[in-house]
Amino acid sequence: MRETNTLNVTPSSLPTPHGGVLVNQFVDADAASFAHLPTLEIDERGYADLELIATGVYSPLRGFMNKADHASVVSRMRLENGIPWSVPITLGVSQEQAAQLSGLIALSHKGEIVGTLDISEKYSIDKHWEAREVYRTEDGEHPGVAALYAAGDVNLAGEIKLLKHSRGDFPEYHYTPEETRAKFLERGWKTIVAFQTRNPIHRAHEYLHKVALELVDGLFLNPLVGATKSDDVPAHVRMEAYEALLENYYPAARVLLGVYPAAMRYAGPREAVLHAISRRNYGCTHFIVGRDHAGVGSYYGTYDAQEIFNAYSKEELGIEILKFEHTFHCKTCGQLVSSRTCPHSSDHHLVLSGTKVRAMLREGKNLPGEFTRPEVAEVLRKAYAD
Ligand code: ADX
Repeated sequence: MRETNTLNVTPSSLPTPHGGVLVNQFVDADAASFAHLPTLEIDERGYADLELIATGVYSPLRGFMNKADHASVVSRMRLENGIPWSVPITLGVSQEQAAQLSGLIALSHKGEIVGTLDISEKYSIDKHWEAREVYRTEDGEHPGVAALYAAGDVNLAGEIKLLKHSRGDFPEYHYTPEETRAKFLERGWKTIVAFQTRNPIHRAHEYLHKVALELVDGLFLNPLVGATKSDDVPAHVRMEAYEALLENYYPAARVLLGVYPAAMRYAGPREAVLHAISRRNYGCTHFIVGRDHAGVGSYYGTYDAQEIFNAYSKEELGIEILKFEHTFHCKTCGQLVSSRTCPHSSDHHLVLSGTKVRAMLREGKNLPGEFTRPEVAEVLRKAYAD
């Protein structure tokens, strides 16, 4: 069995991984040799976290968090050792499962062994406290809070190993941080801006990318393709839309499209920090945070996800945040603008919420060109007509 815990990252201009070392908990081993172990079935979210830890996207984590790290992350947005971290990465199981499991166990997903967990601790948490601190609400209608409440009551902590790296539904766009770093170096990019998104790409997104591309060498377009709430547009439709947009409107040599396999937590500001740390690990130097990043409903203020970064110094975060105002089309300016660049009142503006866009698509209406490129509108129209 080949076992490597750390990678020698070639010295370069790319940022060091968060915590200093790019974690690698992937083990090229035959899953059958772990079949004798007690096995725990993990869901899509758990499997996504397993992969993100193992491939180093969540460096410096090497496993699911223990009680001390959990408490420290929830209460002060840092791991126990002081390193910035904003969202607990935990594995919840039922009391009955917890009572039966100890030591080294196998983790299966859809019945297939995909990894191992060396259980170091079992602990219960106050979910309402975690909800209040991390999600800023105890409301079970919030999709992230609902997932927290639905998880088992006991967290299993310990180091993990990934035995099978499936690369999901978009293998051609599915890179590890080691691979993105190699690609950035190969392309000679010294500054790379990452863009997180879970929505169909629209003109405001494109505007943010292109303003950023005036400042940096490359764009890492990194859509989240893990579990999302049921009314979000499915990942395969969004991927088709990104391909259409890139093909027609972006300089190919300056963009890398790669998926972010995480589940969406909708934790707004706290999730923005997790998103930034993950992108630093992929090798990015800059990260875009616009309006209501990773938000849902009206749980967060428009710029809360920007303000939260004041809790950290630039050095400890290790990635620079590019903050953008709410951007929209102004009919009078005839272009994408924000309150920083446009003098006109709101009746000159075209602002479409995600909810409004989804409603228009369901009704078979065409999205206006000022809002969405026609190639993207066509992909969405077809997906909703099916
Ligand atoms: S998110 O949940 O992934 O944040 P979305 O895909 O809509 O949702 O947003 C991706 C990024 O673009 C986030 O940083 C968000 O703040 C930013 N963003 C989206 N729409 C706008 C807009 N109209 N103006 C400014 N920033 C925006």
